[in-house]
Amino acid sequence: MTRKFAIAPADNGEQVSDRTIPDELPEAHLIRRYEPLAVLAVASEAFPVVKTGGLADVIGSLPKALLSQGIATRTLIPAYPMALANCDDREVVGHMSVLGEEVTLWASHCHELELLLVDCPALFDRRGGPYLDDQGRNYPDNWRRFALLSAVGARIAAEGVDDWRPDLVHLHDWQAGLTAAYMRAAGVDVPRVVTIHNLAFQGQFPASVFPSLGLPDHFFHVDGLEYYGDISFLKAGIRLSDAVTTVSPTYAREILTEEQGMGMSGVLQSRRSVLSGIVNGIDEDVWNPLTDPYISENYDLHSIERRRANREAVEQTFGLIPGDGAILSVISRLTWQKGIDLLAPVVQGIVDRGARLIVIGEGDPDIVCGLAEQARKHSGRVVVHVGFSEESAHLLHAGSDIVVQPSRFEPCGLTQLYALRYGAIPVVARTGGLAETVIDANEAATAAGAATGFQFHPGSVEDLYQAIDRALTAYDSSDTWSRLQTQAMRTSFGWARSAERYACLYRRLVRDHGAPTLDHK
Ligand code: ADP
Ligand code: GLC
Repeated sequence: MTRKFAIAPADNGEQVSDRTIPDELPEAHLIRRYEPLAVLAVASEAFPVVKTGGLADVIGSLPKALLSQGIATRTLIPAYPMALANCDDREVVGHMSVLGEEVTLWASHCHELELLLVDCPALFDRRGGPYLDDQGRNYPDNWRRFALLSAVGARIAAEGVDDWRPDLVHLHDWQAGLTAAYMRAAGVDVPRVVTIHNLAFQGQFPASVFPSLGLPDHFFHVDGLEYYGDISFLKAGIRLSDAVTTVSPTYAREILTEEQGMGMSGVLQSRRSVLSGIVNGIDEDVWNPLTDPYISENYDLHSIERRRANREAVEQTFGLIPGDGAILSVISRLTWQKGIDLLAPVVQGIVDRGARLIVIGEGDPDIVCGLAEQARKHSGRVVVHVGFSEESAHLLHAGSDIVVQPSRFEPCGLTQLYALRYGAIPVVARTGGLAETVIDANEAATAAGAATGFQFHPGSVEDLYQAIDRALTAYDSSDTWSRLQTQAMRTSFGWARSAERYACLYRRLVRDHGAPTLDHK
């Protein structure tokens, strides 16, 4: 006799559902696999409550995808003023004294997220953003702010909240890295995984702050926080977690090399056996051209001609001279990482081809100045908007023809995924997540109907221009363009597969926790 079960995915990541299980399987095995898991995620931002970039998008969308895997996440973030304003339906679930500060812990079911908010006005009630003051400078006490977030995370891992206790803790980026150290110091026996969203941000601070962290002296060690004589919060996460992930398999390989390891390759090599890459997904409800409230006209692949209204809305909104020439857009932090300094030298070529360019973002003043100069020179054809606008980002994906992402390195990148979904063709540097999510329109891929965009060698102005030139040539042929758009919009970048991978990793860590680890170094 057999029975039917809706079972959790197997550890190899293959989706197995509604599989027939023979009776003689031991009951304990079944129970362990089906048991729902409770996860505490610790992070510094979560869309739509507070967002400065892709980290927020991931923190805001992964928990929803994990629910279908039987995993319930509660997400701990700081109670910045914006977070409190966006989650007014909340209740106090605890008071604690941490690192000499009095903390109130709020719980809120907010925008489909189960949030826990660390309220400590002395550290988080500030006029600027999550990391920078209103002059764009790092808060000098960022080490203390995120040590506190991490210490609260460790306390929740140890004691729970109300009747709730996490089976696993998931730390994101350096801001949450010290959670692993506080848990280890307090002997909290809950498995933990750290995800590196960007190795460029390591939470590196002078050794002089170490005594104020409330950690035992021996944590200031090469196997703990010590990092070239300073301390690094991210290193603590990497050294002291059970597993380390990053946001694409390509980036997982890249960061093991000296060239792209940003000083951390040795540390990562030491955790190689527990390091893996899981590519980010996107929230297909938030980023759906058929239902997007921010765009002029909704559309999908079958009504792609309606995109035209969005193009016109882009021309109008951004003050472009109307025309048939392609609209290129860049929606990005305006920084060296994103390769935005490579853009100014190719602007003349873009304009000479009859195309137009819109850049929206915030960042390096020199880069902004260079672009602003181009905008003055090519008024009506080149527009630079300094600022962060979720609404404009959506409209630009819906109404521009090409989205350019010239990153020097890119752990995953979400912009190209949004562009694909909206039928804007990405031109991207061949690095990290960009390399594996965009299929270059070379001869073979084009013949096979697999191409979705254009790639070029990172860091090269000439290669960037050539890729843009190839894209503009393809744009001139309506058949070629339509094939690219169709393939782009058919590609799925939802969370399903990657959520399954996280679920497998979580379950394996929970199952193996307590077993001796082979990863001694
Ligand atoms: P990163 O997190 O490194 O900045 P990602 O591509 O992963 O890069 O994510 C960037 C996110 O930030 C996307 O959601 C993108 O739409 C958004 N974004 C970047 N710049 C702006 C901007 N100026 N206005 C609105 N959204 C922006
Ligand atoms: C970081 C990376 C980006 C990634 C995002 C979300 O900000 O720079 O590539 O998509 O995190 O993981």
